[in-house]
Amino acid sequence: MSAKIIDGKAIAAQIREEIKSKVTERVAQGLRPPGLAVVLVGSDPASQVYVGSKRRACDDIGFKSVSYDLPAHTSESDLLVLIDQLNANHEIDGILVQFPLPEHIDSELVIERIHHDKDVDGFHPYNIGRLAVRMPVFRSCTPYGVMKLLDGLDEPIKGKEAVVVGASNHVGRPMGLELLLAGCTVTTTHRFTRDLESHVRRADIIVVGVGKPGLVKGEWIKPGAIVIDIGINRTEEGKLVGDVEFDVASQNASWITPVPGGVGPMTVAMLMYNTLYAAQRLHKES
Ligand code: GUN
Repeated sequence: MSAKIIDGKAIAAQIREEIKSKVTERVAQGLRPPGLAVVLVGSDPASQVYVGSKRRACDDIGFKSVSYDLPAHTSESDLLVLIDQLNANHEIDGILVQFPLPEHIDSELVIERIHHDKDVDGFHPYNIGRLAVRMPVFRSCTPYGVMKLLDGLDEPIKGKEAVVVGASNHVGRPMGLELLLAGCTVTTTHRFTRDLESHVRRADIIVVGVGKPGLVKGEWIKPGAIVIDIGINRTEEGKLVGDVEFDVASQNASWITPVPGGVGPMTVAMLMYNTLYAAQRLHKES
């Protein structure tokens, strides 16, 4: 079997086009464009790239994006004051603070300080909790993007065995909750899991988000399984690769995401989606 490629780049572009036309409609009706505050603390090169692509996406779609590039020595309390101001700003629908933050800043404190109505990343415990009890509001962008990719396949996922590799707060955990909400039987594996291979081997859907190239061997993939690779790793030769051995996995899988061009573009598209949602549903004032 040779897997079909899930073209996240194309699907993300389509979602972005839909958002763009909704924004045009809003503005034609005299409503203000959705506003996203994008906050970067420090100068981590990877974060600069991600933040740059989020800001460009806002410009392209017609959102108002407000940028804050703060020095690495910014104090935790100064960052919290900025978040309070953005929480109170009626032209800002969403607040994105790029992670990782410098070590002297408590990320959890920052996540909880962002009002949950403006938590377009879907990281706030309120929003994770809503997802856990089947009443989602803001859904974490990467897992939500994965669900959009799965929705676009020609097979229902209800009842399937889903295995999530990685249990991070921002990816693995909400990913498991999303798949559970969709009716899958979900296993989440993590660093203490004893026999990763045995879990992967019985998965109908495998979602991997760890950040270790080659962690999931291609030969472990069950024939016909759907493989979603969230990992983005740069090899010594400068090539971008995921966490799954793509070449062998794609011999066994029915569908597989490439890296790059799979899940990555969906994260930005869903951030835009959540920001429009925030403007439409939660901040009705223009
Ligand atoms: N750092 C890496 N990915 C993300 C993301 O999706 N959101 C934020 N805020 N920071 C990140």
